[in-house]
Amino acid sequence: MSVLARPADRIHLEWRNRVIAEYTSAAITARVLHLTVICGLDRPLQDTALRIVRDELDHAALSDEARLALGDTDEPLGLEVGRLDPPRGSDGPLAELVDHVCTSFCFGETLAVPLFAAMRARADHPAIQPVLTRVLADEAVHRGFGWDALDALLALDPDGVRARAATTLPTALQSYRAAYHDIGDGSPLTAEELSAGLLPHGAYREVFRETVLKTIVPRLGSRGIALDHGLHDAA
Ligand SMILES: [Fe+2]
Ligand SMILES: [Fe+2]
Repeated sequence: MSVLARPADRIHLEWRNRVIAEYTSAAITARVLHLTVICGLDRPLQDTALRIVRDELDHAALSDEARLALGDTDEPLGLEVGRLDPPRGSDGPLAELVDHVCTSFCFGETLAVPLFAAMRARADHPAIQPVLTRVLADEAVHRGFGWDALDALLALDPDGVRARAATTLPTALQSYRAAYHDIGDGSPLTAEELSAGLLPHGAYREVFRETVLKTIVPRLGSRGIALDHGLHDAA
């Protein structure tokens, strides 16, 4: 591989991963929509879940167009059925819905808002900025859905949902921590990579810490859910 080829490769790899992540979010949210119907959550929450499925399919398509505009091959990307349709366990639909809401929304979508804001602040490529602007606007709605859905679930079964969240959230924390925080410094990004929407490892780490400490932990605490995050020790 030539040295000159490396930055372009990293840009293409990043956008391939984003296409797959957005399409996976569509699949997970379609299951969340199904579970909101099964569990009988209020109609406005079901309508928002339906909207989010459409948003995530749009994000996947827009991200695919972005990666082509950045010069990547138009070969189809591989998808793993296991990630699109994770095992459902044997604890029933309410427990499964709590798991998805805690992991994909109270963590995933809540982290997505400041992450996409940080990407958009640096990205000035004309094919990329409009994509990040659309995604950022939608992610704020997705974040709101997660916390509203958690409130609805707590109203259904306060003790059961708190107990389930208490077992699910530490795993979610560790998984996002491994992806966004415990990642070393990485090699510096070029101006071309920043323009294409890539984010330095330090920015991922800072957004993760700030969001967990200032948004996720306080929001959980106000709902009577404690989360031992361990982030002060890791600073
Ligand atoms: Fe998305
Ligand atoms: Fe989203």
